[in-house]
Amino acid sequence: MTGPLVDARGLTKTFPMGAGPVQAVRNVSLQIAAGEYLAIRGPSGCGKSTLLHILGCVDTPSSGTLMFEGRSVSGLSDADRSALRLLSIGFVFQRFFLLPMLTAAENVDVPQAEAGVAGADRKRRTAELLDYVGLSHRRDHRPAQLSGGEAQRVAIARALANRPRLLLADEPTGELDRATGEQIAGLLDRVQADGTAVVVVTHDPAIAARAGRTLLMRDGRIEIDGNGESGTR
Ligand SMILES: Nc1ncnc2c1ncn2[C@@H]1O[C@H](COP(=O)(O)OP(=O)(O)OP(=O)(O)O)[C@@H](O)[C@H]1O
Ligand SMILES: [Mg+2]
Repeated sequence: MTGPLVDARGLTKTFPMGAGPVQAVRNVSLQIAAGEYLAIRGPSGCGKSTLLHILGCVDTPSSGTLMFEGRSVSGLSDADRSALRLLSIGFVFQRFFLLPMLTAAENVDVPQAEAGVAGADRKRRTAELLDYVGLSHRRDHRPAQLSGGEAQRVAIARALANRPRLLLADEPTGELDRATGEQIAGLLDRVQADGTAVVVVTHDPAIAARAGRTLLMRDGRIEIDGNGESGTR
């Protein structure tokens, strides 16, 4: 593929509120290449999560255009947009959002089942993913029976289940101690080395330092779009 993986032009997101509209994202244009590692930083409330949700097709922009692999996302039906999200994009939410009644293995199985993958293939893929994130020995644990770092790794395994081209993670180390955060950062490095584009919202300098490119957001806009750490400190 020659064009960018993601091509966003003039994205805005306005939330209508009683006290007046909140402009969470203002005129953001951004291209993400296949296999790129991008960090997004910026103060609380500057629009990082909102932008990530739009890029992940979890939310729709108020205006602007978003292309994924050359296809206009806004032109897709709800069903096609869901399929794109299911098959091509992995999303790791800040608070994991694992299904509490399901085990680690079952959580990783869900998106594959939704994608219609056959049972035997799912079983193999789930075992491979749990091994990839170092949690084969925790396959039968429910989320409440996992540590924070383990739950985050299950969330990453789940996000990778259908081999997405883009992995988006919203502060994946925000609630973890430093050593556990390093482990997650190492895992994201490996995901990127395996060819998946990775976009991480993070306040963690250890992750931002690893990314090839860092966006600094302020008040809904991209203030700095630079290489690695330079220009962001
Ligand atoms: N669903 C919503 N309805 C109304 N306002 C919202 C909604 N979601 C976010 N906002 C507002 O939009 C702005 C951006 O929010 P966002 O969650 O994107 O910030 P953030 O940069 O991710 O912050 P943090 O670092 O604290 O997670 C904030 O002012 C927030 O209050
Ligand atoms: Mg946020």
